[in-house]
Amino acid sequence: MQITKRQLFGDIDFQKIAEDKDFKEDSVREVIILPILKHLGYQEDDIVRSKTLMHPTLKIGSNKKREVKLIPDYLLKVENNYALVLDAKSPNKKIVHNDNVEQVYCYAMHPEICSNYFALCNGIEFSLFRTTNPGEPILFFEMSDIEYYWEQLAMYLSPDAFHTGKNITYIVKTDNYSSPQNDDDWYKKRPLLEEIPVKKQAAKRHFGCNAYFTRQTWNVVQEYIRNYTQRGDLVLDPFGGSGVTFVESLMTERKAIHIDLNPLSTFMVESLIAPAKKNELWDSFVAIKREFEKFVPKNDVEVQKALKKYKLPKNLDLALPKNADVGTIKELFTEQQLAELALLKYLIKKEPNENIKKSLFLAFYNTVGVINRTFHETPKGGGNHFGYYYRYRLASKPAFKNTIQVFEGKIKRVCKGKEEMSHSINEDAINNAQIIKGTATDLSFLKKESVDYIYTDPPYGKKIPYLDLSAMWNAWLDLKVTEEDFQMEAIEGGEHNKTKQEYNELIAQSIREMYRVLKFDRWLSFVFAHKDPEFWHLIINTAESCGFEYVGAVAQKNGQTSFKKRQNPFTILSGQLIINFRKVRKPRAILSANLGMTTSELVMQTIEGIIAKNNGATIEQINNEIIIKGLELNFLLRLAKEYSDLTPILRSSFDYNAETELYTIRKNSKFTSHIPIEMRIKYYLVDYLQRIEREQKRNPTLEEITFNVMPMLRNGDTPENQTVLSVLEEIAEQVEGDRWKLKQNGQGKLFE
Ligand SMILES: C[S@@+](CC[C@H](N)C(=O)[O-])C[C@H]1O[C@@H](n2cnc3c(N)ncnc32)[C@H](O)[C@@H]1O
Repeated sequence: MQITKRQLFGDIDFQKIAEDKDFKEDSVREVIILPILKHLGYQEDDIVRSKTLMHPTLKIGSNKKREVKLIPDYLLKVENNYALVLDAKSPNKKIVHNDNVEQVYCYAMHPEICSNYFALCNGIEFSLFRTTNPGEPILFFEMSDIEYYWEQLAMYLSPDAFHTGKNITYIVKTDNYSSPQNDDDWYKKRPLLEEIPVKKQAAKRHFGCNAYFTRQTWNVVQEYIRNYTQRGDLVLDPFGGSGVTFVESLMTERKAIHIDLNPLSTFMVESLIAPAKKNELWDSFVAIKREFEKFVPKNDVEVQKALKKYKLPKNLDLALPKNADVGTIKELFTEQQLAELALLKYLIKKEPNENIKKSLFLAFYNTVGVINRTFHETPKGGGNHFGYYYRYRLASKPAFKNTIQVFEGKIKRVCKGKEEMSHSINEDAINNAQIIKGTATDLSFLKKESVDYIYTDPPYGKKIPYLDLSAMWNAWLDLKVTEEDFQMEAIEGGEHNKTKQEYNELIAQSIREMYRVLKFDRWLSFVFAHKDPEFWHLIINTAESCGFEYVGAVAQKNGQTSFKKRQNPFTILSGQLIINFRKVRKPRAILSANLGMTTSELVMQTIEGIIAKNNGATIEQINNEIIIKGLELNFLLRLAKEYSDLTPILRSSFDYNAETELYTIRKNSKFTSHIPIEMRIKYYLVDYLQRIEREQKRNPTLEEITFNVMPMLRNGDTPENQTVLSVLEEIAEQVEGDRWKLKQNGQGKLFE
């Protein structure tokens, strides 16, 4: 069951708790822990508070056992056995890798308890351990993220998760996402997810550790993985980028394969997951800092000397794209910056431990992004480099930052990210994972039907030329990009002037490969954002022609606003759709509904529908709705030909409020009233009934149908229920008593 933070704790502010000196152990117990236990399903009688234990070995006088101060805060009973010890600590106390853990471990091991699990909570963090491995938690999260960990928490700790018996054993999975392995039915019936609120910066393993041009939101990806897979399943992302799919798969105990053409991507992901102990990484950094400060060039003469001594990567002489402000990569740096980065790289290379070295290079990579002439500070603090503008643009007022201080900041972030991952991504997990520099168009190293789920997010046409824009980092990291890589890169335009046709072919080939390697009854979630319906048509068409069955598309915000969007807030799309396909043995194609409307009527009807439903709609909501309706009601091709850009129609026929960024219906306008009401009803009925069928939901009743369709018809004359019924009778038939189902192709006149 999903739960929100508010449902658990009301309006609590965890930041304030951390700073509040009066918020101590007892508050943690009552304000934080108790609601968790109640929502997990424990009754008052199951919760044993502050039980005094008898020390097992301490005896005095005539063999009498002496009571000692061993008092766990909470013992949780499941059918008269103790399933778990849960101890509260005050917010300033550590709850991993610390004596506090040992103390609670002792409680759990006590002969009067013998629980298989123990947990600690300090009000702002939660850690859960198995008594078989008290050194590493099996779950660790910040309380502010609890809703994202709730499924896992419930899976481990809800009363249903435990067998009876003194040696309580963990029953695999009780949550909504799980069922016994190899049950194809479980996969077939996975629901579509609604839009998920984004939680951009909460995961330190992504934010601040490995910057990239675009990144999927970790909590969205994690929820998709949980929804479509079970523990131990294999998840693939063939356009892996910064590795969000890969890392979240490992974090949730799945196996994972990451593929990307850009060597920077594979470098990032490998370095990110390389296990490195925080203190060892820090010690190595301290040694590097000492050397750096000793040898850093202090004047021009020393800079020249350093440039001779510490070799610069030869690819710094490579040419930049034509739209860059300078000719070569090297010119993106001052000589001082070049000398300092070269010295830093030289010192990092001396580190003997490979995993520590990779981690240092990850921080180095992030440092190069700051120590160059394109980086400038922003008024709100922080700063931007050229990646923000998708062009090598020199800053008019570059911020010349202190190299070693920047490196130190990046090291700290890498340490935090590693610590967060260390609980889940261990050697075992890494052995079950593959990181491959390769192309999504050739997955021949994978057997057919070997993958359980694909979540992927390919480049969107000409939006970002990844290889061109990664050249600066690839050069510093000595990573090679070949001509073949450029040929295989799925983009439009870029320095290699790739055509739309080339892009289309690469995307189509990658979809064919995804189909081949996916098991039957498993899912593909394909993330895409583009204004041009032709691209959408290509994706749907290719997927269907391979044998995928389209199930549904969901609008999903990604929590990022691009530079272009900020410049053109009214026209540039910032949303994205996640299109979900199933690989089934007998796929049904999207049916071609003959709605009797012209394309312009369909477009107007769709825009009006979303505006009426939400009382105004943003450009993203309108675009998303047009694309979804276009592909579900099969008018994408017509749309591509006649409406590759919706802005003119929106500007001429609707009102726009710059403050709310909402398009609304023009006052006193009933522009769709010339479309007969029956036709409008038919449009929504077909749309609704088709969706129900694809999602394998139960056929709806008349009441459910009218409830869903009426809100869309708010503008113009509201139809009588009777009118809805008469249109319904024309296109659908009654089944199971009072329920309705679309007439099938050939039976009625509905489909072409
Ligand atoms: C939108 S990004 C993926 C971002 C990723 N989802 C994340 O969260 O970080 C698309 C990625 O596709 C990669 N790419 C482009 N063409 C490719 C191809 N033919 N095979 C594999 N990867 C490719 C790019 O290098 C880029 O990293």
